Amino acid sequence: ASADPGSLRTPIVAVLGHVDHGKTSLLDKIRGSAVSEGEAGAITQHIGATAVPLDTVSSMAGELVMADDFDLPGLLFIDTPGHHSFSTLRARGGALADIAVLVVDVNDGFQPQTKEALDILQRTGTPFVVAANKIDTTPGWNPNPKAPVQETYEAQTDRARQRLDENLYEIIGQLSDSGFSADLYWRVQNFQNNIGVVPISAMTGEGVPDLLAVLMGLSQRYMKEEMEIDLTGPGKGTVLEVKDEKGFGATLDVVLYDGTVEEGDRIVVGGVEGPIVTEVRALLRPRALSEIRTEAEFERLDSVQAASGVKLAAPDLDDAMAGAPVRVVRGRHLEKVIDEVEAELSEIEVDTEDEGVVVKADTLGSLEAMANALREAEIPILRAEVGDVAPRDVAVASTANEDEHRVILGFNVDTLPDAERELDQQGVKLFGDDVIYQLVEDYESFIEERER
Ligand code: GTP
Ligand code: MG
Repeated sequence: ASADPGSLRTPIVAVLGHVDHGKTSLLDKIRGSAVSEGEAGAITQHIGATAVPLDTVSSMAGELVMADDFDLPGLLFIDTPGHHSFSTLRARGGALADIAVLVVDVNDGFQPQTKEALDILQRTGTPFVVAANKIDTTPGWNPNPKAPVQETYEAQTDRARQRLDENLYEIIGQLSDSGFSADLYWRVQNFQNNIGVVPISAMTGEGVPDLLAVLMGLSQRYMKEEMEIDLTGPGKGTVLEVKDEKGFGATLDVVLYDGTVEEGDRIVVGGVEGPIVTEVRALLRPRALSEIRTEAEFERLDSVQAASGVKLAAPDLDDAMAGAPVRVVRGRHLEKVIDEVEAELSEIEVDTEDEGVVVKADTLGSLEAMANALREAEIPILRAEVGDVAPRDVAVASTANEDEHRVILGFNVDTLPDAERELDQQGVKLFGDDVIYQLVEDYESFIEERER
């Protein structure tokens, strides 16, 4: 017997992969809007969420998704820019996403961030499919816009088909080298043991019906039980971004994965100095099929149910951290909720030492990733925090005894103007980058230079 559709939450789908392999383009295609045109350059600066209702999935996927066969309400896609650590999408020590799409450029194959994403998917046990993107760039390709992949595949010349096959088998081989048994999705019988590879073009839409069908099918089949939650309970979510918004001050872009949040709810949010207790002044959301980060005009809502991307406006959010938990208190003891948020925050706390470098990062997840990379490189950390480089950080770094520790390593953060001046005056060196291994490498070469 099928459950009441109102009691099932939307599965959360993370879209990840190497820079420029086509994550945003895929979502653009799905949304039917050109979000990437509004982005700074070709690189996505931030992450956002896109809700696609079942009816829309069904109309895009044609015969491959019959709405009547499903009782999940649709799919909620989260885009992750290539340089943004996917580890931000965490929840309760695991992955925030229920399922993932790993986008791989068919011509480029596996690249560093493809491997990084695979590692995280493996570690968190997140089920995923591979979208082998840009099939339209196969030499001699004859595009059939929006067609299911087998249809367009059959319509190609032998030569074009062969070329595509070579690239696809290359990717299947690379997955196998990484320990994943994989095959073209229509040959996969058991998606729990095998990774399905879906050839697509985010440009022409070929294969996108198949991808949606596989995502809906997998969610319905393997995740339905997890989707049966108390949608009216106190909400739980993860902060994707802390953003200043005209008229609202600091706001939170949140992915709500459990329960409900209502205007006026008391919430607890992970902050730089520990849990922040505040009250929701406004719940803001772009219309379905649009995107948090480009929508200038928000719709104001009384309440929001999981799973959703929503913007929360509330006082005192300046110190809130991206990647941190958000919990609604409603009907529960405040102290208990604060404890829960503290417990989640302490999972991510970085081990620090009396002597070492100062680390700043844009999100809790990237801070964690930075700390791991530095531990592997045996570089000690004096202090590690989420946020832009502030004068306070320079003051802390300047207390180091060793010159090689009078250093701040900033991952994906800005430097406040006052801090800029302090750096010069205090003789503290700042390294900044949006690639973790590059930051570590730069710092290591700096030490080598000094030792020479
Ligand atoms: P980051 O957010 O920077 O990590 O990149 P991304 O993965 O979101 O890639 P994006 O969607 O911005 O695409 C990168 C480039 O590839 C753009 O110029 C797209 O137009 C192009 N592109 C993406 N998908 C396709 C495709 O299927 N076919 C072709 N021909 N070009 C594509
Ligand atoms: Mg992008």
